[in-house]
Amino acid sequence: MCGIMAYVGDKDLNSVLMAGLWRLEYRGYDSSGVASIMDGELEVRKALGRLMVLQDILSDRPIGGGAGIGHTRWATHGEPSDQNAHPQVDCSGKIAVVHNGIIENHYSLKEELIKNKHIFQSNTDTEVIAHLIEENYNGDLKESVLKSVSKLRGSFAIAVIVSSEPDRIVIYREGSPLIVGLGNNESLAASDIPAIIDHTRRVIIMSDGELAVLRKDSVEFYDKEGKRIEKKEKEIKWSPTSLDKGEYAHYMLKEIYEQPEVIERNIALRIEDGEFNLGESFHFSPHDLAHLTDIVIQACGTSWHAGYIGKYLFEEFARIHTEVDISSEFRYRNPVMGGETLVIAVSQSGETADTLAGLREAKAKFLKVLSIVNVRGSTIARESESTVYINAGPEIGVASTKAYTSQILQLYLMALYLSKLRWALEASSIDEKLKGLIEIPKKMRTILNKADSIKQIAEKFKDSRDFMFIGRGINYPSALEGALKLKEISYIHATGYPAGEMKHGPIALIDKNSPVVAIATQSSVYEKMLSNIEEVRSRGARIISIATEGDKRIKDISDEVFYIPPCGENVSPILVALPLQLLAYYSAVLNKRDVDRPRNLAKSVTVE
Ligand code: M6R
Repeated sequence: MCGIMAYVGDKDLNSVLMAGLWRLEYRGYDSSGVASIMDGELEVRKALGRLMVLQDILSDRPIGGGAGIGHTRWATHGEPSDQNAHPQVDCSGKIAVVHNGIIENHYSLKEELIKNKHIFQSNTDTEVIAHLIEENYNGDLKESVLKSVSKLRGSFAIAVIVSSEPDRIVIYREGSPLIVGLGNNESLAASDIPAIIDHTRRVIIMSDGELAVLRKDSVEFYDKEGKRIEKKEKEIKWSPTSLDKGEYAHYMLKEIYEQPEVIERNIALRIEDGEFNLGESFHFSPHDLAHLTDIVIQACGTSWHAGYIGKYLFEEFARIHTEVDISSEFRYRNPVMGGETLVIAVSQSGETADTLAGLREAKAKFLKVLSIVNVRGSTIARESESTVYINAGPEIGVASTKAYTSQILQLYLMALYLSKLRWALEASSIDEKLKGLIEIPKKMRTILNKADSIKQIAEKFKDSRDFMFIGRGINYPSALEGALKLKEISYIHATGYPAGEMKHGPIALIDKNSPVVAIATQSSVYEKMLSNIEEVRSRGARIISIATEGDKRIKDISDEVFYIPPCGENVSPILVALPLQLLAYYSAVLNKRDVDRPRNLAKSVTVE
């Protein structure tokens, strides 16, 4: 993970680097640092803690010069500390490196470097890179970086400066994202586009094995053999204003409230005159998909939960056997898959290391690969044969909200599309389902208008330290997601369980006052859910039910009920997500947590 920012030009380095790092803070925020060349000397400022600490240091002791690099860290090797923060520096104090990713062979490299009398100051894998470049430095930073990276194994993106070449920054990408911004008499590089968008909209996306030399008036690209290459630039059209919190206290709350609009926009995009339009990056022909025998969905975290819902949808609508796997398991389990299997990678960021590795694993087995991704141009999108974009707009809060519901929508539409191709459902039934979708944004607004009642529930339970979330059928993954949302931002322990499984062990956890969130909307398993609620209630649990308006039975067996508007069972996870997100949000706020930047997490998990 971690965010890299680099700038060469005439603007004030302190403000440009800091503004970029603020925009990259979602990638990691346990420590940060910057470096530049001032009057021929390398200057480094580093800070443990949030970016504000670095900002205060720079107000007292600004850096200067024309080229600078910055970094916001999510620790992998070495605990968060001043010493382990980036930039990391060589023995001579002339070379500074910022790094995103992991150097897998850092241990053996470090041993070799120590034998050659290098002295290490940190516990990071990154410091190895600084010393390796020092070892190989011959007066040309580009050459020494190329020579050094050939020795590194792992996934990484780096930006490097050296005091003897103060007019340039060298960057290299191998497995971790890096983009270049072409400005007016200035050049920039960063881990993600928002960091540079205030300066330029002309962007070049680096591929693996590529190096760039940034000067203020030029950027040159090279392959790993040092051969000059040409790269195509693209223009970023979206607006930076969509990155502001606006009237909302947190990005997460803003993103929760954006959901009706995101869903509305995507329905309009995907259904044109009753026909499916899965977008310009969906390249599979009907023939490619009509004979699928299996689908395997692989993803992580919230995207895995969306994928799990996808399993129910593909099996129900298209009658295709579907498996769903956590990417970090999928990539190492050597799954048995035949030629007519479609592997779907679901990812908000499009950069999640395990999901990307799973996708590559599937490609190596010559399987069809589709991704469902939010970030355009991300690695997963670029490496997939076809991509369906989530079109949720930038999601800044670490907790995924609007990307999740839009992922479910895309999977819902994909499942209906496959159903149509395979004649699995009657055309009238598909039409009816599409009509039902049109009502969803309005129903989402109805739910959001009642956010206060969720806030009141959160107030009543704010001191509880263990929650259980239960659901069945297509809302079993919703229970998993509700639990993940709560724990990741409020630090309250929560477990999601299939309600029917409680009596096989977890019910032993239930005692007087244990909060149990039960998803009991109208569905084919509603009656079963009521029985499962009774089972935990009779052991003293306090029940918070999510139910359907008009349900008269649920309030008798619940302590709290939140009603959602009636909707089809298979689309209900989109509506159910909202009260669960709000419950997590208000619980976190009431527990005074850093909602958008929860501890130990980062938005984009680019390490395995
Ligand atoms: O970018 P991705 O969707 O691939 O990310 C996957 C997970 O890291 C992500 O969903 C994570 O679980 C979020 N913190 C959930 O809110």
